This record gives sequence, C-alpha cells and structure tokens, in this order.
Amino acid sequence: MAKLLVIIGVTGLQGGSVARLYQNLYQKEPGRRIRGITRDPTKPSNAALREAGIELVAADLDDPSSLDRAFEGANAIFAVTDFWQFLQQPATFAEAEKTGRLPNQVAMDHEIQQGRNIIDMAAKHLAGLDRLVLSTLSDSQKWSNGEIRWNLHFDGKAKITDYLKTTYPDLAAKSSYVQMGNYLSNWRMLPIFAPQKQADGSFIFYALAKPNGKAIPYVDPPNDTGYFVKALIDAPAGITLLGYGEAMQAEEHVALWGKVNGVRARFEQLTAEVAREAGLPEFLVLEVTESGMYSSSYGWDGGDPEVKHPKDVGVDVGKLTKVEDYFRKEDWSGVL
Ligand SMILES: NC(=O)c1ccc[n+]([C@@H]2O[C@H](COP(=O)([O-])OP(=O)(O)OC[C@H]3O[C@@H](n4cnc5c(N)ncnc54)[C@H](OP(=O)(O)O)[C@@H]3O)[C@@H](O)[C@H]2O)c1
Repeated sequence: MAKLLVIIGVTGLQGGSVARLYQNLYQKEPGRRIRGITRDPTKPSNAALREAGIELVAADLDDPSSLDRAFEGANAIFAVTDFWQFLQQPATFAEAEKTGRLPNQVAMDHEIQQGRNIIDMAAKHLAGLDRLVLSTLSDSQKWSNGEIRWNLHFDGKAKITDYLKTTYPDLAAKSSYVQMGNYLSNWRMLPIFAPQKQADGSFIFYALAKPNGKAIPYVDPPNDTGYFVKALIDAPAGITLLGYGEAMQAEEHVALWGKVNGVRARFEQLTAEVAREAGLPEFLVLEVTESGMYSSSYGWDGGDPEVKHPKDVGVDVGKLTKVEDYFRKEDWSGVL
C-alpha cells in the first residue's frame, strides 16, 4: 500500500472518488497520507477534502515546476487530464481562429501538453515511486484503421500514454492505465443528452451510439474510480483496465431508464443532423458523432486485446455502480 498517494484532479469526479476511498482505508493505517492537487486549495468547495484530512497543495498542470514540488515523496500517483474544460475557455477559440484549427484540435494539444508535464515530472521522482495510474482512453484512429479522425478527447489521452511508454520505459514499468467508461452522468453535460419529453408523454433518449452497436461500458465515476485505482495500485504494473460497472447496448440502457421511471422511452441515435438542430457548433458535431460511431462500431476500448475487465484484475466489483442503481439514485424530476 502506498505511503504517500498524490491525486491529480482531487476536486473532480475521478480524483475525488480515489481520495474518498483511500481516506477511509488510510484512517486504519497510520503513517499513510494523501496529497491532493488543485489550482486553488483555499476554494470554499474544497473544505470537505481538507476536513477529511487530505493535504491540498496548489499546483497547475500547465506549470511543471509546481508538479515537481507536488510529487515530492510520492509512492503512488493518480493522474487525470480534463479535455472538456478547454472548450469552455475563450483562449481556446482565439487560438483556433489564429491558427486555422478547430477548437477541439487546440483542446487536444493542450491536454497532451498537460499529460506530458505530468509524465516528465513523475519520471523525476521515479526512485521513490511504486505506481503511476493514468486515466486514459483508447486510440480511436489506430483501432478504427484511420476511419475515426475526430474523437480527439480519446486520441489525446492515447497520445499521452504513448509518450509515457516511448519516452520513459522505466516509468512505464511502474505504470497502469484505466480507460474510464461512458459516464452515466453525461445526460447532464448538454441538454440534448438528456431524455426529451414528447407531446404524447413518451421520451426519446438520444445516445452516441448506432442501433445494435457494441455494448457501452457505463460508469459512475464519483463512486467507481477509487475501486479501479486501488486494484491497479495493488496489482503488478502494466495493466490497462476498462473502468465500468456494467456494460449494455444503448437500447437496453434507455429501456431500463423508462422502466425505472415508469414511462415509455425509446433510444435514438444522436446523428449529426440531430446535433446540428440542437445547436451544437460544427466542431462539436464532429467530435460527438465520431465518438459515438467509434465506440458503437469498434468498442469503447477499440477492441484492444490487452484491455482487462474489472473482474479480471481484483476490482471489488460488488461495490461498482449498476446502471439501474444509478437511475434509481438520480433526481430525474427536471426531465420528467
Ligand atoms: N464524460 C465521459 O463519459 C468520460 C468518459 C471517460 C473519460 N472522460 C474524461 O474525464 C476527464 C475529466 O475527468 P473528471 O470527470 O474527473 O473531471 P472534473 O470532475 O471536471 O474535474 C477536473 C479536475 O481536473 C483538475 N484540473 C483541471 N485543470 C487543471 C490544471 N490546469 N491544473 C491542475 N488541476 C487541474 C480540476 O482541479 P481544480 O479545478 O481544483 O484545479 C478538477 O479536479 C476528461 O478528460 C474526459 O475526457 C470522460
């Protein structure tokens, strides 16, 4: 078990889950500590983490020297990068305009740079490090043989993983990877992702999937991520884990949602036309529709034979969130 676990993204969905699980474990293990990285440790919303005994340090993924300090003494590091935040920043759109690229290309380049900063600095602390667990996604260009070109929130993460493996084999020998599945909470991300009430009282639940596509691995990151990361810290390095609680086709997911809420609901594919009508800008239409085509044609992990499932690597699968459990615990009143 790690003596000092450093968590990037501790204030977020994935990192917060890792922090809560380890805080519970470490209460029974004196001498073991958690250090969480945030850009602003003093934020009032971070009080709960501090009160739980987690050391919060200020560091920025854009500032390697701050990561160097934050990784001091780390035995284990959990790292996640956040692609989507860049698409809420005016600087991304200004740079896209200036350089003639799409905003999602600029966002991917920024995410890759942050990932490289994490890896460069983790490599500086290799001697004391037992495990780096990187939150990543599969390489859609590679596994689709070039058919999928715009699933950039996947491909940037895959490039970060490639950078780690090719630049620092010694660090890679101490690393494992979690490819987080499809967040069950994605319906909150954009209005068109939520079930849409029809005039007859039934619902259409659009999904980024084609009919009869590959099963989608669903995950509830605030609950489940900690269990994946613990399994990857406890097991030997070199594992790539698909992080999910339950996999099913989009059709089954929607039918279950209807059953839980006692309404008629049907799945429809979120096509480019639907996305455009919903007001998504063209770069986002590309990103979300190609992402759906990739995962439902090739699989979330692209069919990579090396990817393991939670039950194969010692994850406490009984603690993971089933789709129906998630539907029952959510408040759907705003949608219904
Ligand atoms: N939606 C899906 O279905 C899905 C599936 C698989 C993977 N993902 C990936 O999950 C990632 C997001 O993870 P999440 O859900 O845990 O994110 P989140 O809840 O939005 O939290 C983002 C975290 O990143 C930290 N952060 C952002 N920029 C930072 C910086 N410059 N320096 C230091 N820390 C920084 C934030 O910390 P502070 O704000 O406190 O600094 C926060 O803790 C995305 O890249 C997405 O592509 C999503």
